[in-house]
Amino acid sequence: MIDTLIKNIHIATMDAQRPAPYGEFRDAAVGITEDCICWLGTNDAAREIQAKQIYDGQQQWLTPGLIDCHSHLVYGGNRAAEFELKLAGASYQEIAQRGGGIVSTVTQTRQSNASSLFTSSAHRLEKLLAEGVTTIEIKSGYGLNLADEIKMLQVARQLGDSYPVTITTSFLGAHALPAEYDNKATYIQFLIEQVLPKISALGLADAADFFCEGIGFSTDLCRQYALAAIQHGLPVKGHVEQLSYLGGARLVADLNGLSVDHLEYLPETDVAHLKQANVVAVLLPGAFYTLSETQLPPIDAMLAADLPIAIGTDLNPGSSPIASLLNIMNLGCILYKLTPETILRAVTCNAAQALGLHHEIGQIKIGFRADLVLWPVDTPAELCYGMNLITPSRIYKNGINHHVN
Ligand code: NIG
Ligand code: FE
Repeated sequence: MIDTLIKNIHIATMDAQRPAPYGEFRDAAVGITEDCICWLGTNDAAREIQAKQIYDGQQQWLTPGLIDCHSHLVYGGNRAAEFELKLAGASYQEIAQRGGGIVSTVTQTRQSNASSLFTSSAHRLEKLLAEGVTTIEIKSGYGLNLADEIKMLQVARQLGDSYPVTITTSFLGAHALPAEYDNKATYIQFLIEQVLPKISALGLADAADFFCEGIGFSTDLCRQYALAAIQHGLPVKGHVEQLSYLGGARLVADLNGLSVDHLEYLPETDVAHLKQANVVAVLLPGAFYTLSETQLPPIDAMLAADLPIAIGTDLNPGSSPIASLLNIMNLGCILYKLTPETILRAVTCNAAQALGLHHEIGQIKIGFRADLVLWPVDTPAELCYGMNLITPSRIYKNGINHHVN
């Protein structure tokens, strides 16, 4: 006797061992016990299965719960005033150099207490959850001192405790130089000596992240920071080659990191290096769109090398104020010319790999966690093809349906 049987469905398993597009399994059924997928078979075979609850999916499509593997969802305030400056001609870098950009969100985040930060972040989180996102990575990086980095990460953990979602956290101390420092090397030393040890002792971070860029930190400083993070047991990922090429992606690959994110300025010649290290390329078309970028990541070379590609919202108040993974999936198709199948992998199995969770989530397979979304669509491509056209009919998180539509 199993807990739940969802029958009469088509399944986009995203299991690479199934040769059909989307790892599809038509006219199928799936069984859940506790928080796990315990049975998978044809709809006919499901007649033999005894379940406490049976749900007739009426030929809808079931996918793994969506995974947003790159977000800055916890932040204070907004940057609408900078949006106006940008429309009047100022660039993202110019705004940052004038003391705006990331640093202005740092000021607003420091001014928010934990409870108002929780409330404003929960509002954004609820939007992602309503569209079938069941796992979200959230970065710190708008505190940039010990107390405020801890505050951000605690709020992220608290969101995970309060909603049906898995939150993974990344410590992004090396995001920007805070106003009270005038030397980047001194600030990185402070992070290494005083912040990383405490964050890791408190168990507040699952990974460490950095911004390797002219307006962020040099490759050398990022290396020092990343090595210290690894010593504290944190796997690394990086914001790399977004606005220029500094070699941050190679650095992450050399350190056996989880993912390299953005990548607009990655040279094709670095793709083989990433492939060899099995590092995930996380593309962020929301930032590309918001910053009106024209330099495309080397997508054809990535596809030709069969590099695992993920995408994320990069939800943040500056370069990607977009609280919708479904809309980002559409941008990935339109701006990066990725197919709906590649995009669905990019928000399921490959996004799971970018978080180091690919043995647990991101596929519909026996033993995987029962994070599942049922969609009222005729083909999985409908998830990508428009904006704001579809809503899930059911969202199972850890085997429990939290959403009735
Ligand atoms: O991923 N590139 C650096 N960090 C963020 C932007 C953060 C911000 O502008 O507030 C990003 O795009
Ligand atoms: Fe980011």
